[in-house]
Amino acid sequence: AITTLSALEILDSRSRPTVKVTLTLDDGTRADSQVPSGASTGTREAVELRDGDPARYAGMGALKAVGNVTGPIAEAVVGKQFDSVEALDRALIDLDGTPNKSRLGANAILGVSMAFTRAVAASQGKELWEFLPAVGSQTPRLPVPCFNVLNGGVHAANPLDFQEFMICPLGAPSIAEAVRAGSEIYSALKKKLAGAGHPVGLGDEGGFAPDIAAPEEVLDTIVAAIEAAGYTAGRNGVAIAMDPASSEFRAEDGSYVVAGQRLSSDQMIERYEAMVDTYPIWLLEDGLAENDWNGWSRLTQRLGGRIELVGDDVFCTNPAIIKEGIEKGVANASLIKLNQIGSVSETLEAQRVCAGAGYRQFMSHRSGETPDTFIADLAVATGCGHIKSGAPARGERVAKYNRLMEISAAHPELPYGVA
Ligand code: PGA
Ligand code: ZN
Repeated sequence: AITTLSALEILDSRSRPTVKVTLTLDDGTRADSQVPSGASTGTREAVELRDGDPARYAGMGALKAVGNVTGPIAEAVVGKQFDSVEALDRALIDLDGTPNKSRLGANAILGVSMAFTRAVAASQGKELWEFLPAVGSQTPRLPVPCFNVLNGGVHAANPLDFQEFMICPLGAPSIAEAVRAGSEIYSALKKKLAGAGHPVGLGDEGGFAPDIAAPEEVLDTIVAAIEAAGYTAGRNGVAIAMDPASSEFRAEDGSYVVAGQRLSSDQMIERYEAMVDTYPIWLLEDGLAENDWNGWSRLTQRLGGRIELVGDDVFCTNPAIIKEGIEKGVANASLIKLNQIGSVSETLEAQRVCAGAGYRQFMSHRSGETPDTFIADLAVATGCGHIKSGAPARGERVAKYNRLMEISAAHPELPYGVA
């Protein structure tokens, strides 16, 4: 049974308040969790409860969420026995009573769900990744780390509309060698940018934020950095992934505004196709906006056979929305973010829905992060094959990559890479 449950308002990597939860079981096991927070959020994400008090943290305080953990949630779960994480999550969802966790807050509920999962794993003497279930026919493996080395969009103050440019060492022999490649290319990229006179300040996820507007110019620079670091640009070496997060630059009239140009959905698709023809791109996330489902179907028909097309804002890690996407031929993969849906069990359910339809799952951090490494273990356990946790720099980003190397060192039998 759960014996104590407490919560604390702490800061995330963007200096915004978030929730830390600590929980103990009657066998003395103690575990905690820290909840992440996004900036380019999907409109159908579970609700992150904020205080709204302009006198504290510009309204972004998390004391209401903290109070919901120590108040109504503690009242409902302390002293009770839950035989599984699903049973606890079900109780929390019922207690909340809303379809999007808006009463207690997804930040409150997820914090408790993660801490309980960790505590149960520990009380069984298991590592978190050993305790979490595999998904479908996927088996545990070390995921390809997709390092976000160049930031734009709402994660940086530069003129770049596309949010994320990632390098993905698909051809690395191990997670340790993949991390090494990521770090060496990150350094080479810094030199290239500085050499070209660009400022090398960082965006929210630790990637550089140069004053470049055209995505193709970024791609040229990244390919040059991969090669300068001594790696092969391509699927057998280091490939590129992009998350334009295009919901953020879609105008009211439905056009996409890229580097000052207004493009229709079909023009965006053509632009992406040209990029895929020219650069070693293997994955495109949120290439079109969350409310552009027709465009998404056409994008999937056009490029779905060539690259992985990941739905983030369009799916929000929501099993029901992913099912709808599968029926409509939207994307061929889903991003997986615990706090978009707000519990561990529902996140696993979203992954099961994907696996059942042959959709890949791309494990993800948020732009506002903490040192919590839950997603590293979740990626390994579920065998989803790839993860993004930002740049190979900054504590909250490298914590996840370091955890993967730690798991690999202790379990050299685990395979590396996309299955
Ligand atoms: P967010 O961005 O965490 O700011 O929502 C990440 C993403 O769009 O993948
Ligand atoms: Zn995204």
